[in-house]
Amino acid sequence: MNIKGKKVVVFGGTSGIGSATIKLLIKSKASKIYAISRNPKKLKVRYKNLILESVDVLDENNVKNLFKKIGPYDVLISTATGGERAVGPFLTMDMNGYKNSFDKVWGYANVIRYGIKNLNKNGNVVLVSGSPARKPKAGFVAISSAGGAVEAFVRAITKELAPIRINLVSPGVIDTPMSPLKGKARKAFYKNATKENIIKRAGSAEEVAKAILFVIENDFITGATIDVDGGWISS
Ligand SMILES: NC(=O)c1ccc[n+]([C@@H]2O[C@H](COP(=O)([O-])OP(=O)(O)OC[C@H]3O[C@@H](n4cnc5c(N)ncnc54)[C@H](OP(=O)(O)O)[C@@H]3O)[C@@H](O)[C@H]2O)c1
Repeated sequence: MNIKGKKVVVFGGTSGIGSATIKLLIKSKASKIYAISRNPKKLKVRYKNLILESVDVLDENNVKNLFKKIGPYDVLISTATGGERAVGPFLTMDMNGYKNSFDKVWGYANVIRYGIKNLNKNGNVVLVSGSPARKPKAGFVAISSAGGAVEAFVRAITKELAPIRINLVSPGVIDTPMSPLKGKARKAFYKNATKENIIKRAGSAEEVAKAILFVIENDFITGATIDVDGGWISS
């Protein structure tokens, strides 16, 4: 697929990996791009064919109505986390926090369920999971199991969606607004979080966005998970 001239819908396209993806889609001359989240105005990028929409992926009716408004399109991307995720040891974890971590799965389920009808049969879907699902670390039970559910969901749905392709991009530690830390504390956090990886630094949102564009453009890839993790899995 050549992105030039294509209509692309990006849930979570207003921050971090999603907004880096929007920038690459603009460079690739997509004809129309939708950047969607609950508070889309935080996206500072402006472009004549970029449309900001305010929708919560967990609100089925709003998701349905949005797709009616968008009409036929070519690529569906979602990086939307869905909500707050719990971290910390399982035995003392807040169980509601653990349950809420699965909002990512329900958000992905909603955008696919209501977004597939108008998606071009030569088109494709890209979702984002994460390394904790593939090589869990202590204290990441919630994120690991929600990410594992996303991976199983994609493997299970790949045949059902064909000929539409679907792929996952799995980031390791990435420097995005997801972490609220500033200055020295931020630097120390990323240094510590990546000390066991082969590449001992946080990745950039653009490095992940490049993998998203790669699976969009390669018509021979479906049902795959592409790791962009600085060697988290191999370390
Ligand atoms: N950064 C990392 O280290 C890392 C590592 C592994 C995996 N990931 C995954 O990569 C994806 C993107 O992360 P990021 O680092 O780019 O995070 P981010 O900067 O916090 O961006 C998350 C985006 O999702 C949107 N969003 C969240 N909940 C939503 C909802 N219910 N409805 C609609 N939009 C929603 C947010 O916008 P609003 O708040 O305006 O809704 C925002 O645009 C996530 O799935 C994350 O789990 C990230």
